Parts: sequence; structure tokens; C-alpha cells
Amino acid sequence: MLAIEIIEKKKNGIQLNKQEIDFMVQGYTKGIIPDYQMAAFLMSIFFQKMDKDETSNLTMSFVNSGDRVDLSKLDGVKVDKHSTGGVGDKISLIVIPLVASVGVPVAKMSGRGLGHTGGTIDKLESIEGFRVELDEEEFINNVNKYKMAITGQSANLVPADKKIYALRDVTATINSIPLIASSIMSKKIASGADAIVLDVKVGSGAFMKNLDEAKKLARTMVDIGNSLNRKTVAVITNMNQPLGREVGNANEINEAIRVLKGQGEEDETVVALTIASYMAVLGGAFEDFQTAYKKLFDIIQSGLAIDKFNELILIQGGNPDFINNPAKLPQSKYNIEVKAKNTGYVNEIDAEIIGLSAMLLGAGRRTKDDFIDHAAGITLNKKIGDKVLKGETLCVLHTNKEDNNEAIDRISEAYLVNESIPEKEKYVYDIIE
Ligand code: URA
Repeated sequence: MLAIEIIEKKKNGIQLNKQEIDFMVQGYTKGIIPDYQMAAFLMSIFFQKMDKDETSNLTMSFVNSGDRVDLSKLDGVKVDKHSTGGVGDKISLIVIPLVASVGVPVAKMSGRGLGHTGGTIDKLESIEGFRVELDEEEFINNVNKYKMAITGQSANLVPADKKIYALRDVTATINSIPLIASSIMSKKIASGADAIVLDVKVGSGAFMKNLDEAKKLARTMVDIGNSLNRKTVAVITNMNQPLGREVGNANEINEAIRVLKGQGEEDETVVALTIASYMAVLGGAFEDFQTAYKKLFDIIQSGLAIDKFNELILIQGGNPDFINNPAKLPQSKYNIEVKAKNTGYVNEIDAEIIGLSAMLLGAGRRTKDDFIDHAAGITLNKKIGDKVLKGETLCVLHTNKEDNNEAIDRISEAYLVNESIPEKEKYVYDIIE
């Protein structure tokens, strides 16, 4: 086979077979195919797209490029979840103990954050003593015994995706549905999931800025999962503003606790219960979504969910004192209030700007080697639909940095306050099965 013939075929919109896709992916991962040919190949996929068979074959080729986590020693259906990335997204922290509390095993591998969205592993590192790197034996044992464990992703999981993603990043080929879908699904399959719930975010803080595109991405990922015998459900959720009121690391941990205690904001409580309910149904704990939702809601109200979170902290070596005493979490030196310039209603909050501002305050990294300040972040006092008076606090910036002018300038562009009363935001737009 010749790379140039395969590129030519895709350029002309001809379907590629499994061998041709494998030739390109494995050849590139091993360094046999050069960047310039892979870049041309990616651009031809960008324009000509891929059909269902090609996208599934691409996904499996990614999976086969590296190690796979073997979860076969675990009892039960292993259910994973994935978010396409949002701001203030602490849903994983909530659903792990919640789903585990009904006996469905959650073996969670999570990543670190880059850019305007945070990573679950970074958030958990706000907790004193919490270990985010478990070896395979401890990971499996904890899931068998307690039905839950969380660890960082192993280094050699889907190396083809790591290399190709870096090339996509500099060749304007990130925003391609078959490429995004196979990138995400390959990591879930390589992590050993039997069933997957996808949280596909749409809005100002998400990859997908409009609902049609989000639905197409969701449909493509669900089709890949189902064609590879992984039951997959996608929940399309609102990312027109950050989820809940906290964006950062320690402050998001604190907010996740509030949800698990039944004192959370409505948006994140609904999204978390929806994702957790589909996970519990796919894991076989309930017959249908409504029963699962009601039961999981009751588990939060009864205090069982926060007890299970306490257990997760203890088994991974963390000090759980912060659960009843949030002041034990890292606290910032400076807390800067951002005031409203006019009276009216909050009509828009640009979630991407909020995420980028939080990064500038120290809560996220621009490059993968940046240091993270777990105390840094933003608290949104006002959200879409809230009435504000001129001079009232819109949000508070938490930081340990002395110079925050760039973040303050940015944040003032995030809020749109005017006289019109916006419609109530929907939290969940659609379910794709
Ligand atoms: N997230 C991923 O893991 N891959 C993509 O291509 C886009 C978002």
C-alpha cells in the first residue's frame, strides 16, 4: 500500500477499508508515515468526512495503537462516562460515588485539564493526601471492593490519538466530527468500558457551539459505541454558561460536595442525576431512566451519596475533613469582586471567557507543563436570568497572583447585562441512544 494512494482515495470521497485506515494510523504512530502525508490525510477526512464503518475502523485502529486496560477481572458491567469538555464541569466527581452507591462498578480514568476546561484529576489534587495515580492492582481491587476508583490515564493509552491530536491542533483539523468522535471513543474503549454515557456539551464554553453539530457528534459516537458492542448513550447538555457557580479546582470540589449533600445548584444537580441515571441503567441496576433518577435523587437526600464520596476520599489516601469543613480546602490570598456596570438581567455569560479567565488566575494551564494553583478560580454570584443592580457583585475572582489585570479585563467581557428578561435555560437538550 502507498500512503499517497490512500490520501488520493479519501480526497476523492471514496470509502476506505480497514486495512487502508490501519496502514495510515499505525504507519504514522510508528514514524513511518511523515507529518506532511498525515496532515493531507486529515484534511481530506475533514472535507470528505467518513461513514459509519470507516469511523468505527478508525476508532479501533486508534485503540490498537497502544495498551488496553483489562477490566475483565471486575464483576458487573463497567460503565464509563465522558464529557466533551466544559467550564465548571464537576459532574464526574458527583457521579462516581452516586453510581457506585447502587452497586454499578465505576473504574474511572480521567485526564488533566488544558486551556479553558479543567480536568477531574487536577480538581482531586486539591484534596490533602488524595492519590490520583493507582497501579492496576489497586485500581481493580478498589473497584471490586468499593465499586469505585479513579486514576490518571496510563501513558501508553491510544498513542496514535496523542500524536494525531497534536498534528490536528496545528493543521486546523480539530473540528471534524469523525476525528473528534474516534479520538474520544478510542480512549473509552481502550480504558476497558463495557458501556459509555457521553455528556456532549453545547454552547459558548463547549467545542460544539450549536445544537445541530452537537447532535451529529453525539450520533456518530453512539453509532461507534454500538457498532463495537459497547452500549452507548449521549446526553446533550447546556454549556452556554458554566455549570453551577464555581469554576476552578478546590472550589469545584466544594461545590460537588454540596450537590452530593442535596444542596447543589439546580443545573448541575439535574445534569449529574441524568448522567448517573443512564450509567446506572446501562450498568443493570435499574430497568428504566425514571426509576433510576428517583432512586438516585433519594440516595442524595438520605446522605448515602456523600458517605460514599467520603469513602472514596479515604480509600485513595485523602483527608476527608474538608467535607464538613470546606475551609480545609486550599484558600486564595486575594478575592476580587467584579461589579455590574449597569442594572438589568444577566442575558449571557460567555463560558469560554470565564474558563480562560480562571486559567489566567492560576486555576488552569496554557501548556501541559504549567503549574496549577488549586485555590484559584471564580465564583459566579450571578447567572443567566438573575436580576442585578449597578454596582452589585457579578462574580468573585480567587487568586494568589499579585497582577490580575488581564483576567479582570477579560471577565468584564463575559457578562451581558441588559433590560430584557431571558428565557429559562434548558439543562438537558436531548438524549441520543
Ligand atoms: N476531545 C478529545 O479527546 N478528542 C478530540 O478530538 C476532541 C476533544
